[in-house]
Amino acid sequence: MGYAGPGDTLGVLLSGLQRLEYRGYDSAGVAVISDDGELQVRKRAGKLNVLVDDLHRHPLKAGHTGLGHTRWATHGGPTDENAHPHVGDHGRLAVIHNGIIENYAELKAELLDEGFSFTSETDTEVAAVLIGREYERLHDLEAAFRASVRRFEGAFTLLAVHQDEPGVVVGARRNSPLVIGRGKGENFLASDVAAFVAHTTHALAIGQDQMVVLTADSIAVTTFDGEPVEPEAFEVEWDASAAEKGGWSSFMAKEISEEPEAVADTLRGRLRDGKVCFPGLALPDSALAAVDRVLILACGTASYAGMTASYALERWVGVPVDVQLSHEFRYRDPVIGPRTLVVAVSQSGETMDTLMATRYAQQQGAPVLAVCNTQGATIAREADGVLYTHAGPEVAVASTKAYSAQVAALYLLGLYLGQLRETLSDAERTDAVAELEALPDRIQGALHASEGIPQMAHWMADTRAVLFLGRNVLYPVALEGALKLKELAYIHAEGFAAGELKHGPIALIDPGLPVFVLMPSPRRSAELHAKVLSNIQEIRARGARVIAVAEVGDTAVLPYADDVITVPLTSPLFSPFLSVVPLQIFAMELSTAKGLDVDQPRNLAKSVTVE
Ligand code: F6R
Repeated sequence: MGYAGPGDTLGVLLSGLQRLEYRGYDSAGVAVISDDGELQVRKRAGKLNVLVDDLHRHPLKAGHTGLGHTRWATHGGPTDENAHPHVGDHGRLAVIHNGIIENYAELKAELLDEGFSFTSETDTEVAAVLIGREYERLHDLEAAFRASVRRFEGAFTLLAVHQDEPGVVVGARRNSPLVIGRGKGENFLASDVAAFVAHTTHALAIGQDQMVVLTADSIAVTTFDGEPVEPEAFEVEWDASAAEKGGWSSFMAKEISEEPEAVADTLRGRLRDGKVCFPGLALPDSALAAVDRVLILACGTASYAGMTASYALERWVGVPVDVQLSHEFRYRDPVIGPRTLVVAVSQSGETMDTLMATRYAQQQGAPVLAVCNTQGATIAREADGVLYTHAGPEVAVASTKAYSAQVAALYLLGLYLGQLRETLSDAERTDAVAELEALPDRIQGALHASEGIPQMAHWMADTRAVLFLGRNVLYPVALEGALKLKELAYIHAEGFAAGELKHGPIALIDPGLPVFVLMPSPRRSAELHAKVLSNIQEIRARGARVIAVAEVGDTAVLPYADDVITVPLTSPLFSPFLSVVPLQIFAMELSTAKGLDVDQPRNLAKSVTVE
């Protein structure tokens, strides 16, 4: 984050960093140019509060220009030395950086030859020293910065300040996010609007390979070559309180509770007279009607949202629907073309793997539709069309409400394509729309029905492994349940298609092993329900402890399950929205029972902007 203005610079930076901490939290640092012209840098390994405590004990002098950074380590471990900002020009210039400068080793060798020395293992310090060297030569921050960024390869967002030019912050971006916040007599730079939304909702997007020179009352954007650019302005819809914890014990608890609203907001304005409408979707209907395949690209939870929705999409649209992990997709010479609709699903809209896959797909001539939650994000801007989920800011690192909103948006897309292609009967469409509209209340019901889960999680706090089983549309939910448990409670967890167990994984069943089984509806998926009951018997015979997530009134499962968590009735394709809720709550509660940080699990960052 960068700031220039009359406000309390350190306060602005620290509160902004708090909202950005989900991006990385292994170290944090600030640089503030004091009013008497001294560049002050403070940085600490550990979470932001370590830095905050340090600053309380040893305050900085006030100033009106500054930078702040939270780090997720790439080059060099999380130490004070490796934390940002890094300095150049004999401690007079400070630089912060996201991404990876791929040619840093070559640049470092050049600088070492010239007699410069380094105190960290980071690629960022190489940038700081190089910009510092250019400053010594040019005595102009903008010129020194421009000369340097043109030499960097890879992905980066870089911000810099120099004590001889108080009031000026320079920034640049390539393949990594950077947004401008335009305030009244103060301006902001940040990798996400969440950092400055408490001060202004007026934002400007900076394009690829562009840089910005910012003061309290001026903003100048140019290409790396110096051509002036008119940045695209947009209004941030999120209000500042949306990113506050409120009275909740964690952001994750708050965000799970917001799932009904996230789905309702994603549907809002898109259902009219029993039909789906997408006002302002840049992709023409003719192109959408002509698709002969849908390919969903995403990572992690977003990919499970894609998998979940693929069942409904295939049924409604009548074309093959595939889901691929973005980072695998690019390296397999994929066969796609102008009639493949590529759907890039990303909460942050900044996941580098998905961004790169999106660009590759566009180069192959495929139309790309982004399903994103963050306004102005790179994937949303670069795609040919964008369908925003309106889940509001998701601060907890593990994705919860974003998953539900992504599935809802993809279901809307499926219905829309089905309408255009006339592959969906009126009756099925009307039913599906009614099911969608009923979802917020039903998800609320699933939240109420999950009240016993904290107790269950408590007795499982010493569990070493957990399995999750699902079939059909509940299979991706099993994968998602396992992912949540791995990342939040550091427990080995696996999700399986229930029918697959007998092909090998059943060997994992030890006496007492907890296995969550996601039950299909006995009324509306009777055949599958019977099959899953058989699967349960196979694992119970080997000593598994079965926790069934079943529709209310499913008495048939009772004799086979040690515990049953009920969810409201819904039609089968919509059951993931309900079954996922207890799994999210279970992972959160088990993490809490183990005394772990639910919102910021170890080793992770929410927005993964490196490949
Ligand atoms: C898991 C989680 C991640 C993200 C993944 C994609 O809880 O949050 O698996 O889903 O990193 O992130 P986005 O959706 O921002 O592209």
